Amino acid sequence: MGNCWCRWEPSIYRVSSNAKSESPKNESPLVKHKIDESKLPSNPEEVEDLRRDAASNPLIAFTYSELRIITANFRQDRVLGGGGFGSVYKGFISEDLREGLEPLQVAVKVHDGDNSYQGHREWLAEVIFLGQLSHPNLVKLIGYCCEDEHRVLIYEYMARGSVEHNLFSRVLLPLPWSIRMKIAFGAAKGLAFLHEAEKPVIYRDFKTSNILLDQEYNAKLSDFGLAKDGPVGDKSHVSTRIMGTYGYAAPEYIMTGHLTPRSDVYSFGVVLLELLTGRKSLDKSRPAREQNLTDWALPLLKEKKKIFNIVDPRLDGDYPVKGMHKAAMLAYHCLNRNPKARPLMRDIVDSLEPLLVTDEGSTETTVTAISNEVPNADTKRKEDLQ
Ligand SMILES: Nc1ncnc2c1ncn2[C@@H]1O[C@H](COP(=O)(O)OP(=O)(O)O)[C@@H](O)[C@H]1O
Ligand SMILES: [Mg+2]
Repeated sequence: MGNCWCRWEPSIYRVSSNAKSESPKNESPLVKHKIDESKLPSNPEEVEDLRRDAASNPLIAFTYSELRIITANFRQDRVLGGGGFGSVYKGFISEDLREGLEPLQVAVKVHDGDNSYQGHREWLAEVIFLGQLSHPNLVKLIGYCCEDEHRVLIYEYMARGSVEHNLFSRVLLPLPWSIRMKIAFGAAKGLAFLHEAEKPVIYRDFKTSNILLDQEYNAKLSDFGLAKDGPVGDKSHVSTRIMGTYGYAAPEYIMTGHLTPRSDVYSFGVVLLELLTGRKSLDKSRPAREQNLTDWALPLLKEKKKIFNIVDPRLDGDYPVKGMHKAAMLAYHCLNRNPKARPLMRDIVDSLEPLLVTDEGSTETTVTAISNEVPNADTKRKEDLQ
């Protein structure tokens, strides 16, 4: 991680992912002043200048007219998802687009032009983080566009879409146990990599809609708009504005703004719980005491007999009992209210590895049995938690 990230970062931490819904009058004058002062790059040369300090992955700077070609003029039937900052389109780079480019399927994330500072900052966070981190469990950033008011990111295309879509879809077949464990393992490796990077990174928005799946259900983290350089030593960041997603954010972060890698561990516990139960972290359609998944499931997790009451009924009893207990205990530890009592992501990776189902016939057969459907739009947004 290069120092470039800090160069333009205001000392008051002020990232919001739903700028559209925020009224400018809510911003304190101090924050406004800092924003006006901040110099954000406005063309590819300045972006590359910012990236130069870091050992960066090469990124392609696309022109906006090239993106029109790639996405068939941003056609509505190419929309893969959307959220706080715009829409994501499926695209195709053909070999005649530009000399030297290989044909490739891509996902094109267009940040809305009217989001000014907020949108631009999230866009730049992704360019900086994904432009220098490279790991099989992080989605690959191929390039970007920074032309006039356009801010666009071009990623490798993830054929099966988000975990949210695959886990909660009523159209697709239920994900089998082996795939759920494969997803948990892959996502845990992605987070462990971030936490152990030379300059650690806190992901800060770990949730099922930000974990994407390729054809073989390899999990990759995407959406680094809220990612943050990790604190050094025992220190933690204190955010004046708490950003993330309700139902996933760690309680101490919501209450005090203290952000550490253990906040990601808590969110990982929530996602693991979603994989075990097939329930969403927040579900307003359920009875009041079951709406918050963690509140409802936590007391039941360590009771061996009760655990069967919360396991996803769509698994139809098809899971290894011991493996289920181990995964439930792991979720329980991740969700400890005391951040220091939570395991490290590396320990979580080690605990999940033996739970992978490698028996002949299990993973492979089930993978091919599942529908190949292209995901619908994910409309979940990141929310300002204040
Ligand atoms: N590389 C990709 N391949 C396929 N689908 C993607 C890709 N990137 C994003 N999407 C889809 O778009 C949705 C929103 O993308 P995301 O990067 O999380 O943006 P947002 O900031 O709006 O949350 C994802 O949940 C997913 O469904
Ligand atoms: Mg997202």
